[in-house]
Amino acid sequence: MIIEGIRLLNYRNYEELELKFHSNLNLFVGENAQGKTNLLEAIYICALGKSFRNNKDQELININKNQSLIKTFVKKRNRDIKIELILQKDEKKRIKVNDVSLNKYGELLGNLNVVLFSPEDLKIVKEGPSERRKFIDNDISQISPKYYYLMNQYNKILLQRNKLLKNKGVKPIDLQVWNEQLSSYGTEIIIYRRNFIKKLSLLGKLMHRKITESKENLEIKYDSNININENMNSIQIKERFLAKIDSVYVEEKYRGITLCGPHRDEIKFTINGMDVKKFGSQGQQRTTVLSLKLSEIELIRGEVGEYPILLLDDVMSELDEFRQKYLLNNLKNIQTFITTTVINPFDLKNDNYKLHRIANGNVYNNK
Ligand SMILES: Nc1ncnc2c1ncn2[C@@H]1O[C@H](COP(=O)(O)OP(=O)(O)OP(=O)(O)O)[C@@H](O)[C@H]1O
Ligand SMILES: [Mg+2]
Repeated sequence: MIIEGIRLLNYRNYEELELKFHSNLNLFVGENAQGKTNLLEAIYICALGKSFRNNKDQELININKNQSLIKTFVKKRNRDIKIELILQKDEKKRIKVNDVSLNKYGELLGNLNVVLFSPEDLKIVKEGPSERRKFIDNDISQISPKYYYLMNQYNKILLQRNKLLKNKGVKPIDLQVWNEQLSSYGTEIIIYRRNFIKKLSLLGKLMHRKITESKENLEIKYDSNININENMNSIQIKERFLAKIDSVYVEEKYRGITLCGPHRDEIKFTINGMDVKKFGSQGQQRTTVLSLKLSEIELIRGEVGEYPILLLDDVMSELDEFRQKYLLNNLKNIQTFITTTVINPFDLKNDNYKLHRIANGNVYNNK
C-alpha cells in the first residue's frame, strides 16, 4: 500500500499544506523544530486514530486555531481510500473513511497500516513491561481490529473490578460476574498475544541473525501472567485464569487492584541467553528494536497481504553504516518516510526518492 498524498489544515505548525508523495522513498529534511516529526505523526494518526506522542487530540490543533483537518489519500490493493480526521476545540474528534463518518474509532484500523521506528522505541526494550504490551497491542490491533475491541472491553471490566476491590465490604460472590467476564475477554486476548508473539519471535530471530551477521541469537518469549503453555486451548486457559483469580483473592482485596490477567503480561527478549533489558549493550538494545521493527513489517505483510508504510523518525543517524545500508537495501518495496536534519545523509545511489525540505511548517520540493 502507499500514501499518495496528504492535506493538512491548521494542524500543529502547518496552516495549510498539500503534498504529493513518492511511492518509494520520501525524505523530510530540515532543522530542529520545523515540523518533520509532525508530518510523520499526521500519517500515523490516519492509521491508528491517535498520536504516538501521548498527546491529547486537542493539542494537535494549531495553537491559534479552533479546528484542524488531516486527510490522507491511500492506495491499497488498487483501491482508493480517503482517510479524514476532523478535530475541533472542545469536541471529540471525528473520523471519516471515503466520506463516511465512523461510529467507533476501532473501525479505522486496517485501512492504513504503518510501522513507526523512532528513538523512543528503545523504551520497548529498556523500560517496564507496559511499553512492551503497548507495542504488541498496537500491532495486533492493526492486523486484527477485533483485538482492539477486546482490549477496550477488557479494560472497562478491569476498571470496574478494581473499583469494587477498593470497597472494603466486598465479598468473593460480588466479584463472580466480573471474574467471569475478565477471564473470558482475557483468554481471547492471551490467545491473540500468544499467536502474535510466536510469529514475531520466528521473524525476529531471523532478522537479528541477518543484521548481526549470525553473531547473535535473539529470542522473544511470551511470559503470560496466567502461566499458560503453547498447547493449551481456550477452555484450559480460562480454567487457569479463574483458578489464579481465586488464589490471589486475599492479596487483591488487601491491595485493592486486580493482580492477574493480560494487563500484567510480560514479553522477554534475550540475546545469546541473556536478558536484553538487563544485560544488553546500547547497540544490542538498538539492534533488537530494529529487528522487531523489520519483523513487524513482514508480519503485517503476511497478515494483510501488502507491505505497510514505514515511518523512520530520526533513527538513521543512530545506526552504524552497516545497519543503515541493511535497512535501506531491505526497503525496496516499502513506501518509506525518513526524517533527518542532514541533507542526503546516506548513500542513496539511485534517483528513486523525493526530498521534501521542511522549514517552519512549509514544505519545499526540490532535490
Ligand atoms: N498545536 C500546535 N500549534 C502550533 N505549533 C505547534 C503545535 N504543536 C507543535 N507545534 C510546533 O511544532 C514544532 C515541532 O515540530 P516537530 O516536532 O515536527 O519538529 P522536528 O522538525 O521533528 O524537529 P526535531 O528535528 O527537533 O525533531 C515546534 O516548533 C512546536 O512549537
Ligand atoms: Mg522530530
